Amino acid sequence: SSVAVFAPATVANVVCGFDVLGFAVNEPGDEVIMRLTNKPGITISKITGDDGRLPLDPAKNTVSVSVQHYLKSVDRLDIGLDIELHKKMPIGSGLGSSSASTVAGLYAIKTLLGDESDPAKLLPFAMKGEEMACGHGHADNVAPALLGGFVLIRSYEPLDVVRLPHPAGLYCAIVFPDVDVPTREARQIIRNKIFMKDAVTQWGNIAGLVSGLFMQDIDLIGRSMTDILVEPVRSMLIPDFYKMREIAMGMGAVSFGISGSGPSVFAFTRDEETAKLITQKLQQHLTSIKIGSNIYVS
Ligand code: HSE
Repeated sequence: SSVAVFAPATVANVVCGFDVLGFAVNEPGDEVIMRLTNKPGITISKITGDDGRLPLDPAKNTVSVSVQHYLKSVDRLDIGLDIELHKKMPIGSGLGSSSASTVAGLYAIKTLLGDESDPAKLLPFAMKGEEMACGHGHADNVAPALLGGFVLIRSYEPLDVVRLPHPAGLYCAIVFPDVDVPTREARQIIRNKIFMKDAVTQWGNIAGLVSGLFMQDIDLIGRSMTDILVEPVRSMLIPDFYKMREIAMGMGAVSFGISGSGPSVFAFTRDEETAKLITQKLQQHLTSIKIGSNIYVS
């Protein structure tokens, strides 16, 4: 038997919530087609949409490696599997590309084996995939890719993941400046010590953003979405970051920031039309754009 599973792109950090906040978008996303085979072990027969950049070797691919961890945990290393991976977003785009693939793979094996336990139980395996992809097992892409909507990682040890509500009238524009920013490198350049004064500013903003989501207060969401810790460093890797912010905010965006570790940027708006216009304008501003769409928080 076989299954096809789609998992969505995600915006991690959501500006001020480094490693603790993320949300899923309804497109783009990746698809995994998985089949049970008679020969024990995992094979990857096909990968599309990756410009030949991803390994077919199951020991080196994040999808197969995380599925292998799952199989070990349920004591099913005896089974045979074949995986096809269809990438529908660029690698290293800041849209949770590896997470979408990994989550689709894990959901596929869960479905094939008839495992009806809570999908959140797949998270530790998905985080193993992240660790392999960029050297750190953060959950702010994999958790929203798996659970949908807005997600807070309240704690990593022990893992405590909380789904958050969001206002119905919140729209998101995303554009991808066509430069490669590997997450591994984007994590290496950030400071690992911060001042208490800056921590106070940052956690005030995170609390403000989460409150705004619960209160459906888009003004509060907007004024809470500033990041004084990570964005000042990472924005240097993104072409015309501050100019793009000026354009988006000037057109009525509620907030603007880096998606994940970049280079994609996103803006929240109060209506779909503004999201579309901002996307178009930013696409015009950047000369080479691969994707750009108006995306609802799903
Ligand atoms: N929280 C992670 C980071 C997300 O910012 O490095 C990577 O997509």
